Amino acid sequence: MADLVDEIKAKLDVVAVISQYLPLKKAGANYKALSPFTSEKTPSFMVSPQKQIWHCFSTGKGGDIFTFIEELEGVNFAEALQILADRAGLKMDDYRKKNNVANKSEKDEYFKAHELAAEFFEKQLYSTNDGKKVLEYLHRRGLDDEILKEFRVGFAPDRYDVLNPMLLDKGISKTVLLQSGLASTKNIGDERIYDKFRGRLMFPIFDYFGRICGFGGRALNKDQMPKYLNSAENLIYNKSKVLYGLSHAKLAIKEQKSVVLVEGYFDVLVPYQNGIKNVVATSGTALTQDHVRLIKRLTENVYTSFDTDEAGFKATRRAFDLLIGQDISVKTLAGLDEKDPADYVLEHGGEAYKKCVDEAIDFVDFYIGSLAKKHDVATFSGRKFLMDEVLPILKPLSDAKRMIYVDKLASVLGIKSDLLFSELQNLKLPNDHPARQTDDNAVISAKKLDLDEIALGIVLYRPDLFEGLLEFLNEKDFSQEYKGIYKELTAQYNLARENLQAWNFEKGVLADNKAKLDVLSLYAEDRYSLFTSEILKEELEKLVDKMRKNRKTQTLKGIQSEIKMAEEQGDMEKVKLLQMQYLENF
Ligand code: UTP
Ligand code: MN
Repeated sequence: MADLVDEIKAKLDVVAVISQYLPLKKAGANYKALSPFTSEKTPSFMVSPQKQIWHCFSTGKGGDIFTFIEELEGVNFAEALQILADRAGLKMDDYRKKNNVANKSEKDEYFKAHELAAEFFEKQLYSTNDGKKVLEYLHRRGLDDEILKEFRVGFAPDRYDVLNPMLLDKGISKTVLLQSGLASTKNIGDERIYDKFRGRLMFPIFDYFGRICGFGGRALNKDQMPKYLNSAENLIYNKSKVLYGLSHAKLAIKEQKSVVLVEGYFDVLVPYQNGIKNVVATSGTALTQDHVRLIKRLTENVYTSFDTDEAGFKATRRAFDLLIGQDISVKTLAGLDEKDPADYVLEHGGEAYKKCVDEAIDFVDFYIGSLAKKHDVATFSGRKFLMDEVLPILKPLSDAKRMIYVDKLASVLGIKSDLLFSELQNLKLPNDHPARQTDDNAVISAKKLDLDEIALGIVLYRPDLFEGLLEFLNEKDFSQEYKGIYKELTAQYNLARENLQAWNFEKGVLADNKAKLDVLSLYAEDRYSLFTSEILKEELEKLVDKMRKNRKTQTLKGIQSEIKMAEEQGDMEKVKLLQMQYLENF
């Protein structure tokens, strides 16, 4: 596998790979971006083409192109390898055959089970009598066979014992069937398993790569509960991280620079069939922070088109809070005459729905407008209600946007903008507000470098400044992690002295820690590349000074606690000795 990794690395540049996901800005010899892992406002994500590495200084994450894909796509190494091999135009299969590499991961069995189940459900839909009735229902709802096949829609017959025996026969283990919720037992621990999805219309749920990772099964009778039965979460299915339709929609989302967010399976399929291809839904859950990150990778423009009932209204508001927390612009579709997208498209056609998308209004306008319709702003309680509902959503916005909306709200309420501004100023968002949470998370995960790491970074980047450390510091000033490294640098420096051009990373402790040290050096390069040598030297002196002060404090603290111990033991002799030591070190 190592050969393939090297081959891929030779073909794909770290900057090219990452800029597919993040807008990279040139910063000296390197590139920078806002961290995709936090909602930071100052970029701390760096890419070094020279070292072919990336590092996010606010979370401490970093590595090469493989770790980047793993982090951003949420995949394991084998999957990242596949994605990048695809991109590099290298065939994994050939390679595997040639090198006899097995690629059996635990996930594979889950994917195989879902794929086989989907094939089974499809067959039932098209070739059984019960299935054909369901097919007619699907046609009545406006879906044709082409799209049903594209989305692998199927039918689970009303039987307890057809799917799972077949899957067991094909070598899928009972554990996988139970874990993935394709099978169930009557009582926990029972030997006998039975089919969980019975008499249902089956929507396979696809992961980002288009692999089937779960199912949503719609009831076909009124008395069947629940209306939608969804797969259990398992190794390959996490409902907070999957958007239904995303693998089909991702190209269209990129092309159109926007995504339409809907509530249900039909709301994806019907518009999709009618030419609105940038459409996705959450499946069986409210929108989550993970969904938002997934969206943000592809676009910063979201159209929400949830159901027009009260629940849909609340869901829209919640989605807005999350999306705005990631600086995503949110517009909302209005004018669907109380219908959900699927029914609207069925009745009025794709073009009419597209028009609704084009005419979608900014969420805040939509929100103020909807509330003003429901509550009488001529009354005090009506005005108060609108203020209480609207001001919190303005809080996380930029100043410019706030101005616009405050003016708008003021004119709707018939009060002065100034008054609203001061209300807004005093307003505190609740702790669990998404916009607040992301900020706090960013602060918590902000991983600052220690002084010794910064100092090492500087001399790794500028070997000629090493003397500045050597003169005033010794091994003791470095944490356990870096003592050996400092020793090695000292040895190399002493050998070469003034002639030292670059550190030798070929073997030993430097080679062993290359990845970590590259990051430190990258940090210094980013921070100090614009400094003159003089100023950089001063900076290093300040650092050294701080480190020595720290060392002193540490030493004194140590002696102090020894004194305390000696006192408790009544060893006055020792106390005196230690006090002398304390003074000497002071
Ligand atoms: P809806 O009840 O609006 O269903 O739930 P729908 O998609 O419009 O389906 P039709 O048009 O009535 O046939 C919207 C979405 O909420 C989830 C499903 O993802 C569904 O598509 N849901 C709903 C569940 O997960 N479980 C349920 O019991 C109900
Ligand atoms: Mn609906």
